Amino acid sequence: MRNRRAAFAVIGGTVSLALTLSACGGETSESGSVERGTIGIAMPTQASERWLTDGKSVVENLQGKGYKTELVYGEDDPETQVSQIEKLIKQGVDALIVAAIDNTSLNGALQQAADADIPVISYDRLIRGTENVDYYVSFDNEQVGRLQALHIIEKLGLEDGKGPFTIELFAGSPDDNNTKYFFDGAMHLLQPYLDSEQLVVRSGQTALKRITTLRWDGPTAKKRMDRILAESYRSERVDAVLSPYDGISIGILSALKADGYGSAGKPFPVITGQDAELASVKLIVAGEQSQTVYKDLRQLAERAAFMADDILNDQTPELNNRRAYKNGVKAVPAYLLQPISVDKTNYESVLIGTGYYTAADLK
Ligand code: GAL
Repeated sequence: MRNRRAAFAVIGGTVSLALTLSACGGETSESGSVERGTIGIAMPTQASERWLTDGKSVVENLQGKGYKTELVYGEDDPETQVSQIEKLIKQGVDALIVAAIDNTSLNGALQQAADADIPVISYDRLIRGTENVDYYVSFDNEQVGRLQALHIIEKLGLEDGKGPFTIELFAGSPDDNNTKYFFDGAMHLLQPYLDSEQLVVRSGQTALKRITTLRWDGPTAKKRMDRILAESYRSERVDAVLSPYDGISIGILSALKADGYGSAGKPFPVITGQDAELASVKLIVAGEQSQTVYKDLRQLAERAAFMADDILNDQTPELNNRRAYKNGVKAVPAYLLQPISVDKTNYESVLIGTGYYTAADLK
Protein backbone atom coordinates (compact mmCIF):
# COMPACT_ATOMS: atom_id res chain seq x y z
CA MET A 1 0.00 0.00 0.00
CA ARG A 2 2.08 2.81 -1.32
CA ASN A 3 0.30 5.70 0.38
CA ARG A 4 0.19 4.03 3.70
CA ARG A 5 3.80 2.97 3.42
CA ALA A 6 4.81 6.55 2.71
CA ALA A 7 2.91 7.79 5.77
CA PHE A 8 4.51 5.07 7.82
CA ALA A 9 8.01 6.13 6.84
CA VAL A 10 7.32 9.69 7.94
CA ILE A 11 5.94 8.88 11.34
CA GLY A 12 8.21 5.91 11.82
CA GLY A 13 8.42 4.09 15.14
CA THR A 14 5.84 6.15 16.96
CA VAL A 15 3.06 4.38 15.11
CA SER A 16 4.44 0.92 15.48
CA LEU A 17 2.37 0.32 18.62
CA ALA A 18 -0.82 0.84 16.68
CA LEU A 19 0.17 -0.68 13.35
CA THR A 20 2.80 -3.25 12.53
CA LEU A 21 3.72 -4.39 9.05
CA SER A 22 3.06 -8.07 8.59
CA ALA A 23 5.75 -10.21 7.01
CA CYS A 24 4.00 -10.27 3.66
CA GLY A 25 3.29 -6.60 3.39
CA GLY A 26 -0.15 -6.12 4.90
CA GLU A 27 -0.77 -4.05 7.99
CA THR A 28 -2.09 -5.62 11.15
CA SER A 29 -4.62 -3.46 12.91
CA GLU A 30 -5.16 -3.43 16.67
CA SER A 31 -7.95 -5.93 16.19
CA GLY A 32 -5.40 -8.29 14.63
CA SER A 33 -7.01 -8.51 11.18
CA VAL A 34 -4.72 -7.96 8.19
CA GLU A 35 -5.58 -4.86 6.17
CA ARG A 36 -4.09 -4.96 2.75
CA GLY A 37 -5.91 -2.01 1.31
CA THR A 38 -8.45 -1.54 -1.44
CA ILE A 39 -8.02 -2.05 -5.16
CA GLY A 40 -10.20 -0.22 -7.66
CA ILE A 41 -11.17 -2.24 -10.73
CA ALA A 42 -12.63 -0.37 -13.73
CA MET A 43 -14.13 -2.65 -16.39
CA PRO A 44 -15.64 -1.53 -19.71
CA THR A 45 -19.12 -3.05 -19.94
CA GLN A 46 -21.51 -5.58 -18.46
CA ALA A 47 -23.04 -6.13 -21.90
CA SER A 48 -20.46 -8.75 -22.77
CA GLU A 49 -20.17 -11.94 -20.78
CA ARG A 50 -16.40 -11.90 -20.82
CA TRP A 51 -16.07 -8.67 -18.82
CA LEU A 52 -18.46 -10.02 -16.18
CA THR A 53 -16.17 -13.02 -15.83
CA ASP A 54 -13.12 -10.75 -15.70
CA GLY A 55 -14.60 -8.54 -12.99
CA LYS A 56 -15.72 -11.46 -10.86
CA SER A 57 -12.41 -13.30 -11.21
CA VAL A 58 -10.25 -10.26 -10.41
CA VAL A 59 -12.35 -9.57 -7.30
CA GLU A 60 -12.11 -13.20 -6.15
CA ASN A 61 -8.36 -13.29 -6.64
CA LEU A 62 -7.76 -10.04 -4.77
CA GLN A 63 -10.11 -10.90 -1.95
CA GLY A 64 -8.31 -14.23 -1.67
CA LYS A 65 -5.14 -12.24 -1.01
CA GLY A 66 -6.87 -10.16 1.66
CA TYR A 67 -7.65 -7.02 -0.34
CA LYS A 68 -10.88 -5.11 -0.43
CA THR A 69 -12.17 -4.35 -3.92
CA GLU A 70 -14.26 -1.69 -5.63
CA LEU A 71 -15.51 -2.97 -9.00
CA VAL A 72 -17.12 -0.55 -11.47
CA TYR A 73 -18.36 -0.91 -15.05
CA GLY A 74 -18.33 2.07 -17.45
CA GLU A 75 -21.03 0.64 -19.75
CA ASP A 76 -19.00 1.50 -22.84
CA ASP A 77 -19.15 5.24 -22.19
CA PRO A 78 -15.64 6.75 -21.93
CA GLU A 79 -16.82 9.73 -19.85
CA THR A 80 -18.52 7.47 -17.33
CA GLN A 81 -15.32 5.49 -16.99
CA VAL A 82 -13.26 8.65 -16.44
CA SER A 83 -15.55 9.82 -13.63
CA GLN A 84 -15.63 6.36 -12.08
CA ILE A 85 -11.84 6.27 -11.96
CA GLU A 86 -11.67 9.80 -10.55
CA LYS A 87 -14.09 8.73 -7.83
CA LEU A 88 -12.00 5.67 -6.97
CA ILE A 89 -8.93 7.93 -6.68
CA LYS A 90 -10.83 10.29 -4.34
CA GLN A 91 -11.91 7.31 -2.25
CA GLY A 92 -8.20 6.58 -1.77
CA VAL A 93 -7.83 3.17 -3.42
CA ASP A 94 -4.31 1.77 -3.15
CA ALA A 95 -4.05 0.58 -6.77
CA LEU A 96 -6.09 0.62 -9.95
CA ILE A 97 -6.73 -2.15 -12.47
CA VAL A 98 -8.24 -0.66 -15.62
CA ALA A 99 -9.64 -2.15 -18.84
CA ALA A 100 -10.08 1.02 -20.88
CA ILE A 101 -13.11 1.83 -23.02
CA ASP A 102 -11.32 4.51 -25.06
CA ASN A 103 -7.59 4.01 -24.72
CA THR A 104 -6.68 7.70 -24.89
CA SER A 105 -9.45 9.19 -22.74
CA LEU A 106 -7.89 8.37 -19.40
CA ASN A 107 -4.80 10.61 -19.38
CA GLY A 108 -6.29 13.24 -17.04
CA ALA A 109 -7.63 10.68 -14.58
CA LEU A 110 -4.36 8.74 -14.59
CA GLN A 111 -2.42 11.94 -13.87
CA GLN A 112 -4.57 12.27 -10.75
CA ALA A 113 -3.72 8.66 -9.88
CA ALA A 114 0.00 9.38 -10.30
CA ASP A 115 -0.27 12.53 -8.16
CA ALA A 116 -1.87 10.40 -5.44
CA ASP A 117 0.85 7.74 -5.86
CA ILE A 118 -1.65 5.11 -6.99
CA PRO A 119 -0.13 2.48 -9.29
CA VAL A 120 -2.07 1.53 -12.43
CA ILE A 121 -2.28 -1.82 -14.19
CA SER A 122 -3.63 -1.75 -17.73
CA TYR A 123 -5.87 -4.83 -18.01
CA ASP A 124 -6.14 -6.59 -21.38
CA ARG A 125 -6.32 -3.28 -23.31
CA LEU A 126 -3.23 -1.08 -23.25
CA ILE A 127 -3.84 2.54 -22.18
CA ARG A 128 -2.07 4.84 -24.60
CA GLY A 129 -0.56 8.31 -24.53
CA THR A 130 0.38 8.51 -20.83
CA GLU A 131 3.39 7.65 -18.75
CA ASN A 132 1.08 6.95 -15.81
CA VAL A 133 0.52 3.30 -16.52
CA ASP A 134 2.83 0.98 -14.64
CA TYR A 135 2.21 -2.51 -16.02
CA TYR A 136 0.21 -4.27 -18.70
CA VAL A 137 -1.35 -7.73 -18.49
CA SER A 138 -2.96 -9.24 -21.55
CA PHE A 139 -2.71 -12.03 -24.10
CA ASP A 140 -0.44 -12.24 -27.12
CA ASN A 141 -2.80 -10.16 -29.24
CA GLU A 142 -1.05 -10.65 -32.57
CA GLN A 143 -1.28 -14.36 -31.99
CA VAL A 144 -5.07 -13.97 -31.60
CA GLY A 145 -5.21 -12.57 -35.15
CA ARG A 146 -2.87 -15.25 -36.46
CA LEU A 147 -5.08 -18.01 -35.01
CA GLN A 148 -8.15 -16.51 -36.71
CA ALA A 149 -6.31 -16.35 -40.05
CA LEU A 150 -4.91 -19.88 -39.69
CA HIS A 151 -8.43 -21.21 -39.21
CA ILE A 152 -9.60 -19.56 -42.43
CA ILE A 153 -6.52 -20.77 -44.32
CA GLU A 154 -7.05 -24.34 -43.14
CA LYS A 155 -10.82 -24.45 -43.67
CA LEU A 156 -10.59 -23.12 -47.22
CA GLY A 157 -7.55 -25.27 -48.12
CA LEU A 158 -5.58 -22.23 -49.23
CA GLU A 159 -2.23 -23.92 -48.63
CA ASP A 160 -3.28 -26.60 -51.14
CA GLY A 161 -3.82 -23.89 -53.73
CA LYS A 162 -7.64 -23.94 -53.57
CA GLY A 163 -9.64 -20.86 -54.52
CA PRO A 164 -10.48 -18.24 -55.45
CA PHE A 165 -12.73 -17.63 -52.44
CA THR A 166 -14.52 -14.49 -51.34
CA ILE A 167 -13.81 -13.01 -47.92
CA GLU A 168 -14.89 -9.94 -45.93
CA LEU A 169 -12.85 -8.36 -43.16
CA PHE A 170 -14.07 -6.94 -39.85
CA ALA A 171 -11.96 -5.28 -37.16
CA GLY A 172 -12.58 -4.17 -33.57
CA SER A 173 -13.11 -0.76 -32.04
CA PRO A 174 -10.82 1.97 -33.37
CA ASP A 175 -10.22 3.28 -29.82
CA ASP A 176 -8.99 -0.10 -28.55
CA ASN A 177 -5.24 -0.67 -28.83
CA ASN A 178 -5.81 -4.39 -29.39
CA THR A 179 -7.67 -3.82 -32.65
CA LYS A 180 -4.53 -3.15 -34.67
CA TYR A 181 -2.69 -6.12 -33.16
CA PHE A 182 -5.53 -8.53 -33.99
CA PHE A 183 -5.79 -7.16 -37.52
CA ASP A 184 -2.05 -7.09 -38.19
CA GLY A 185 -1.63 -10.64 -36.87
CA ALA A 186 -4.38 -11.90 -39.17
CA MET A 187 -3.38 -9.93 -42.25
CA HIS A 188 0.23 -10.99 -41.95
CA LEU A 189 -0.97 -14.50 -42.85
CA LEU A 190 -3.90 -13.61 -45.15
CA GLN A 191 -2.19 -10.95 -47.28
CA PRO A 192 -0.23 -13.43 -49.47
CA TYR A 193 -3.54 -15.06 -50.46
CA LEU A 194 -5.07 -11.66 -51.26
CA ASP A 195 -2.01 -10.92 -53.37
CA SER A 196 -2.33 -14.23 -55.24
CA GLU A 197 -6.11 -13.66 -55.55
CA GLN A 198 -6.93 -16.96 -53.88
CA LEU A 199 -8.86 -14.62 -51.57
CA VAL A 200 -10.94 -11.78 -52.97
CA VAL A 201 -12.56 -9.02 -50.89
CA ARG A 202 -15.48 -8.14 -53.17
CA SER A 203 -16.45 -5.05 -51.15
CA GLY A 204 -12.93 -3.70 -51.66
CA GLN A 205 -12.86 -2.73 -47.97
CA THR A 206 -9.46 -3.84 -46.74
CA ALA A 207 -7.93 -0.81 -44.98
CA LEU A 208 -8.17 -1.00 -41.20
CA LYS A 209 -9.91 2.36 -40.88
CA ARG A 210 -12.70 1.20 -43.23
CA ILE A 211 -13.48 -2.01 -41.38
CA THR A 212 -13.45 -1.08 -37.66
CA THR A 213 -16.52 -1.57 -35.43
CA LEU A 214 -16.99 1.15 -32.81
CA ARG A 215 -17.15 -0.33 -29.27
CA TRP A 216 -17.12 -3.84 -30.73
CA ASP A 217 -20.87 -3.50 -31.19
CA GLY A 218 -22.71 -6.46 -32.78
CA PRO A 219 -25.59 -4.44 -34.29
CA THR A 220 -23.05 -2.05 -35.89
CA ALA A 221 -21.34 -5.06 -37.48
CA LYS A 222 -24.71 -6.40 -38.64
CA LYS A 223 -25.47 -3.13 -40.43
CA ARG A 224 -22.12 -3.15 -42.20
CA MET A 225 -22.56 -6.81 -43.23
CA ASP A 226 -26.13 -6.06 -44.46
CA ARG A 227 -24.71 -3.36 -46.73
CA ILE A 228 -21.85 -5.50 -47.98
CA LEU A 229 -24.19 -8.38 -48.84
CA ALA A 230 -26.60 -6.06 -50.64
CA GLU A 231 -23.90 -4.24 -52.60
CA SER A 232 -21.28 -6.90 -53.35
CA TYR A 233 -22.91 -10.33 -53.07
CA ARG A 234 -26.07 -10.18 -55.16
CA SER A 235 -24.94 -13.06 -57.35
CA GLU A 236 -21.93 -14.40 -55.45
CA ARG A 237 -21.66 -16.08 -52.06
CA VAL A 238 -19.32 -14.96 -49.31
CA ASP A 239 -17.02 -17.85 -48.33
CA ALA A 240 -15.27 -16.46 -45.26
CA VAL A 241 -15.52 -13.60 -42.78
CA LEU A 242 -12.62 -12.52 -40.59
CA SER A 243 -14.30 -11.44 -37.35
CA PRO A 244 -12.20 -10.34 -34.36
CA TYR A 245 -14.72 -10.94 -31.56
CA ASP A 246 -17.70 -13.18 -30.79
CA GLY A 247 -20.16 -10.27 -30.33
CA ILE A 248 -19.26 -9.01 -33.81
CA SER A 249 -19.62 -12.55 -35.22
CA ILE A 250 -23.16 -12.70 -33.82
CA GLY A 251 -24.02 -9.46 -35.68
CA ILE A 252 -22.49 -10.82 -38.90
CA LEU A 253 -24.41 -14.10 -38.53
CA SER A 254 -27.71 -12.31 -38.14
CA ALA A 255 -27.09 -10.38 -41.38
CA LEU A 256 -26.19 -13.65 -43.11
CA LYS A 257 -29.33 -15.40 -41.82
CA ALA A 258 -31.50 -12.52 -43.00
CA ASP A 259 -29.92 -13.03 -46.44
CA GLY A 260 -30.78 -16.75 -46.56
CA TYR A 261 -27.44 -18.22 -45.47
CA GLY A 262 -27.49 -21.37 -43.36
CA SER A 263 -29.23 -23.71 -45.79
CA ALA A 264 -27.81 -26.61 -47.81
CA GLY A 265 -27.72 -24.51 -50.97
CA LYS A 266 -26.28 -21.48 -49.20
CA PRO A 267 -24.10 -22.64 -46.30
CA PHE A 268 -22.65 -20.24 -43.74
CA PRO A 269 -19.21 -18.91 -44.58
CA VAL A 270 -16.22 -19.68 -42.36
CA ILE A 271 -16.56 -17.15 -39.51
CA THR A 272 -13.96 -16.57 -36.81
CA GLY A 273 -14.37 -14.96 -33.38
CA GLN A 274 -12.75 -14.36 -30.02
CA ASP A 275 -13.46 -14.81 -26.30
CA ALA A 276 -15.24 -18.18 -26.37
CA GLU A 277 -18.37 -16.56 -24.96
CA LEU A 278 -20.98 -19.14 -24.04
CA ALA A 279 -23.55 -18.09 -26.68
CA SER A 280 -20.88 -18.27 -29.37
CA VAL A 281 -19.51 -21.64 -28.32
CA LYS A 282 -23.09 -22.90 -28.68
CA LEU A 283 -23.12 -21.42 -32.20
CA ILE A 284 -19.91 -23.32 -32.94
CA VAL A 285 -21.48 -26.57 -31.71
CA ALA A 286 -24.52 -25.77 -33.90
CA GLY A 287 -22.26 -25.25 -36.95
CA GLU A 288 -23.01 -21.54 -37.43
CA GLN A 289 -19.83 -19.83 -36.22
CA SER A 290 -16.69 -21.80 -37.15
CA GLN A 291 -14.07 -20.76 -34.64
CA THR A 292 -13.30 -18.59 -31.64
CA VAL A 293 -10.16 -17.73 -29.74
CA TYR A 294 -10.24 -18.84 -26.14
CA LYS A 295 -8.42 -16.67 -23.65
CA ASP A 296 -8.46 -18.09 -20.13
CA LEU A 297 -9.76 -15.08 -18.20
CA ARG A 298 -9.14 -16.86 -14.93
CA GLN A 299 -5.41 -16.71 -15.69
CA LEU A 300 -5.62 -13.08 -16.76
CA ALA A 301 -7.40 -12.12 -13.54
CA GLU A 302 -4.96 -14.12 -11.43
CA ARG A 303 -2.01 -12.45 -13.15
CA ALA A 304 -3.47 -8.97 -12.56
CA ALA A 305 -3.96 -9.79 -8.88
CA PHE A 306 -0.37 -11.07 -8.57
CA MET A 307 0.84 -7.86 -10.20
CA ALA A 308 -1.15 -5.60 -7.89
CA ASP A 309 -0.01 -7.55 -4.85
CA ASP A 310 3.64 -7.42 -5.93
CA ILE A 311 3.53 -3.70 -6.66
CA LEU A 312 1.97 -2.94 -3.29
CA ASN A 313 4.61 -5.04 -1.58
CA ASP A 314 7.47 -3.33 -3.41
CA GLN A 315 8.26 -6.42 -5.47
CA THR A 316 8.79 -6.31 -9.22
CA PRO A 317 5.96 -8.30 -10.81
CA GLU A 318 6.92 -11.26 -12.98
CA LEU A 319 7.06 -10.20 -16.64
CA ASN A 320 7.42 -12.32 -19.75
CA ASN A 321 7.15 -9.93 -22.66
CA ARG A 322 9.79 -10.37 -25.27
CA ARG A 323 9.16 -6.81 -26.39
CA ALA A 324 7.46 -4.30 -24.10
CA TYR A 325 4.22 -2.86 -25.45
CA LYS A 326 4.72 0.74 -26.58
CA ASN A 327 1.88 3.10 -25.64
CA GLY A 328 3.07 6.16 -27.55
CA VAL A 329 4.88 7.60 -24.52
CA LYS A 330 6.66 4.64 -22.95
CA ALA A 331 7.25 0.92 -23.32
CA VAL A 332 4.96 -0.62 -20.72
CA PRO A 333 6.34 -3.75 -19.01
CA ALA A 334 3.95 -6.56 -19.79
CA TYR A 335 2.92 -10.12 -19.01
CA LEU A 336 1.27 -11.81 -21.99
CA LEU A 337 -0.69 -15.05 -21.81
CA GLN A 338 -1.24 -17.44 -24.72
CA PRO A 339 -4.58 -17.67 -26.56
CA ILE A 340 -5.93 -20.97 -27.96
CA SER A 341 -7.93 -21.53 -31.16
CA VAL A 342 -11.21 -23.35 -30.53
CA ASP A 343 -13.53 -24.98 -33.04
CA LYS A 344 -15.90 -27.91 -33.19
CA THR A 345 -13.03 -30.40 -33.05
CA ASN A 346 -11.47 -29.31 -29.74
CA TYR A 347 -14.03 -27.30 -27.75
CA GLU A 348 -14.74 -30.21 -25.42
CA SER A 349 -11.13 -30.78 -24.40
CA VAL A 350 -10.19 -27.09 -24.24
CA LEU A 351 -13.30 -25.58 -22.66
CA ILE A 352 -14.91 -28.41 -20.72
CA GLY A 353 -11.67 -30.28 -20.00
CA THR A 354 -10.21 -27.23 -18.25
CA GLY A 355 -13.40 -26.54 -16.32
CA TYR A 356 -14.00 -23.20 -18.07
CA TYR A 357 -17.50 -24.44 -18.91
CA THR A 358 -19.39 -27.55 -17.88
CA ALA A 359 -21.08 -29.82 -20.41
CA ALA A 360 -24.40 -28.61 -18.95
CA ASP A 361 -23.46 -24.93 -19.70
CA LEU A 362 -23.22 -25.80 -23.39
CA LYS A 363 -26.61 -27.53 -23.60
C1 GAL B 1 -10.80 -6.50 -26.67
C2 GAL B 1 -10.46 -7.82 -26.06
C3 GAL B 1 -11.23 -8.91 -26.75
C4 GAL B 1 -12.70 -8.59 -26.77
C5 GAL B 1 -13.00 -7.18 -27.19
C6 GAL B 1 -14.45 -6.78 -27.01
O1 GAL B 1 -10.07 -5.50 -26.09
O2 GAL B 1 -9.07 -8.08 -26.12
O3 GAL B 1 -10.96 -10.14 -26.11
O4 GAL B 1 -13.23 -8.85 -25.49
O5 GAL B 1 -12.19 -6.27 -26.50
O6 GAL B 1 -14.82 -6.79 -25.67
